[in-house]
Amino acid sequence: MKKIATALSVVLLAATPFASQATPDDDLKAFRSYFTKKFPEVPMSDFVNGVYAIDAAAREQWEAFEEFPSYEIAIDNGKDKFGKKFANGKGYADCFPNYKKGIKQNYPYFDTDSGKIVTLEGAINKCRTDNGEKPLKWKKGAITEIGAYLASLSRGHKINVKVPNDAGAIAAYNRGKKHFYAKRGQLNMACADCHYYYSGSMIRADILSPALGHPSGFPVYRNKWAGMGTIHRRYGGCNKQVRAKPFKAQSDEYKALEYFETYMSNGLEINGPSQRK
Ligand code: HEC
Repeated sequence: MKKIATALSVVLLAATPFASQATPDDDLKAFRSYFTKKFPEVPMSDFVNGVYAIDAAAREQWEAFEEFPSYEIAIDNGKDKFGKKFANGKGYADCFPNYKKGIKQNYPYFDTDSGKIVTLEGAINKCRTDNGEKPLKWKKGAITEIGAYLASLSRGHKINVKVPNDAGAIAAYNRGKKHFYAKRGQLNMACADCHYYYSGSMIRADILSPALGHPSGFPVYRNKWAGMGTIHRRYGGCNKQVRAKPFKAQSDEYKALEYFETYMSNGLEINGPSQRK
C-alpha cells in the first residue's frame, strides 16, 4: 500500500514542472533567476564553486586545498595517457582533433544520428573501442584522469550545451529534468529538494549546494573518496543518500540528468577539475 502511495506521489509531483510545456530556454531563465534571488550576494560566475560559493567558512579551507590541489597529478597522468598511442597507431587526438582549444564545454551533446546523448566519458570510451581498445571503467581511475586533463584545457570556456529542435533531444532533456524534480528513495526526496528548494540549508554537517553550476568542476578529487570521480559517481552517491537504488554510471538516466544539469549551467565557466570534501 505504501509503495503504491509513493509511486503515485512521484507521478503527481513529477508532473508539476511539465504542466506549462516550458521550453529548455524558459527553464534555464527560471532556474537562474531562482538562484540569483535566493543568493543575491553571490556573483553569477561564482556558482561554479559549488557549496563554497555560499559557505564562507568552508571556503577558506577549500581555497587552501586548491593551492596544492590533489587533482594536479590526475591532470598530469591524464596528459600522459591522452598522448599515448593505441595499438593501431592512432590516438585520442585523432578522435578529438580540437582538444587543445578545449572541448569539455560542449558536452554532453545530443547526437541526432544515434538519438543518444554523448557525454565526454562516453566519447572517450567510444574512441577507445572504435580503435580496438578496451573501454575504461566509468566512475574513477583513468577515465577521470583523461577527463581532468580535458577539463583543465577547457578552463575559462563557457558551458555551451544545446538542446536541438529534435523530438529525441527534447525527450532526453525532459527525462533529465524529470529525474531532477522527482521524489525518490525511502526518504522520498528529489535532487531539487536538496539542491534547489533547500540549497543553502544544512543537512547533517553539510550545507547544500545550489544545482546551478554543478557540472562545471567535474571530475573532482574528493577527500571522502581519496581520489577522483566523475559526476555520475556523485549522482550515485546522492541517490544512495535518500536510500534510492542508484542508476549505473553512463546509463541513459544519468546521461539525461547530466544533460539537464549542464544545460541549466550554460554560460558558466568550466573550472574543473576541482577539489571537494
Ligand atoms: C538529501 C539531500 C540530497 C539529495 C536528495 C541529493 N543530494 Fe546531491 N549532495 C548532497 C550533499 C549533502 C552534497 C555535498 C554538499 C554539496 O556540495 O551540496 C551533495 C553534492 C552533490 C553534487 C556535487 C556538487 C559539487 O559542487 O561538487 C552534485 C553534482 C549533486 N549533489 C547532484 C545531485 C543530484 C543530481 C541529485 C538527484 C539525483 C542529488 N544531488 C540529490 C545532498 C543531496
